[in-house]
Amino acid sequence: MAVTKAYADGMLRYGVIGVGTHGESHLQCVAAAANARLAAVADLSAERAAVMSEKYGPCQVFVDYRELLAQDDVDAVSIVLPDHLHRQVCEDAFAAGKHVLVEKPLATTVADAEAIVAAQRAAGKTLMVNWSNRWMHSFAQTKAALDAGELGNPLYCYARLNNTLFVPTKMLAWAANTRLPFWLICHRYDIARWYFRSEAKRVNAVCRSVKLKSMGIDTPDFYQATVEFANGCVGNFESCWIMPESMPALVDSKFELVCSDGYVNIDAALPDFVIATHAKQLNRGTLQGDVMGEPVGFVNQAIKHFINCVLLGQEPLITGHDGLMITRALAAMVESAEKGEPVNL
Ligand SMILES: NC(=O)c1ccc[n+]([C@@H]2O[C@H](COP(=O)([O-])OP(=O)(O)OC[C@H]3O[C@@H](n4cnc5c(N)ncnc54)[C@H](O)[C@@H]3O)[C@@H](O)[C@H]2O)c1
Repeated sequence: MAVTKAYADGMLRYGVIGVGTHGESHLQCVAAAANARLAAVADLSAERAAVMSEKYGPCQVFVDYRELLAQDDVDAVSIVLPDHLHRQVCEDAFAAGKHVLVEKPLATTVADAEAIVAAQRAAGKTLMVNWSNRWMHSFAQTKAALDAGELGNPLYCYARLNNTLFVPTKMLAWAANTRLPFWLICHRYDIARWYFRSEAKRVNAVCRSVKLKSMGIDTPDFYQATVEFANGCVGNFESCWIMPESMPALVDSKFELVCSDGYVNIDAALPDFVIATHAKQLNRGTLQGDVMGEPVGFVNQAIKHFINCVLLGQEPLITGHDGLMITRALAAMVESAEKGEPVNL
């Protein structure tokens, strides 16, 4: 691998901002990467940051992310903060000359997404939005089959991505600050747009607030959205996060793609093996986790892709432009559901 001169020793010096549930996945992958070194972590919770530094470091620990960004020995950062908090930290990271891997969604408003892309262009640094599901073998192989012309032209998709009630009530302290199009639908919208090679033209969505509202959490229980793309493709997307906690898995997922000469059916969340005790199932499937201590799966591959792109000076598979176009469609879903009428883009 011929790295750019800036990284003559072939190592990317890495910081992670936000080391909550998913921030730990980033730490695990960076710590295991042969061509990256974890230099620093930052989190508002000093205790959590210290625990993560001890587990995946040693590395510097900050409560104020701006202090991390001021470090000369940090080349790139993962920003793994709540959905609605990405803009300011991305802008500050680019102003400090860092490359950025920002978690999905890029932002929760079009104005925020535009500001992040403008900051990246002004800085000339790498920006990747981590729609890591593209690295699931099922979605990646479908893309390869489409690109090879084996399925004909894509016509429409049905995509469902659900969570159990555990997620908005116990896992996320900030569920009321996001909406399902940004938290879940965005994963499948990214896949559909990648397959369709087109942008949303007309978005018609509905949502309802019953269960979470009754629990004092101000965000809808479910969204259903129909998106017409400029080239005629149609995507149907639905997500809820009120499935019973007794479901076999936290995630329920289904993706169907109908093409002029083919059909694809993906149950992405189903593990392909079972390890059961009397108390619970222990298997995490082959999509993520670790094998013999080494991180494996789509999250690891996505983060490796970002590290390699920065070192090689290459554009990542998912750019700021992708993030902005996807944010436009997601924001239109929220707007359409609020207004009760379709939104034209
Ligand atoms: N790609 C994926 O598959 C995937 C999976 C899960 C989450 N995510 C995304 O990752 C992001 C984080 O989600 P999560 O589940 O880890 O959330 P989380 O609540 O578990 O973690 C967020 C962390 O950010 C910290 N934080 C908040 N404000 C901060 C600030 N100003 N400075 C420093 N630290 C701050 C919190 O203390 C917390 O530790 C979200 O955007 C989410 O959508 C992506």
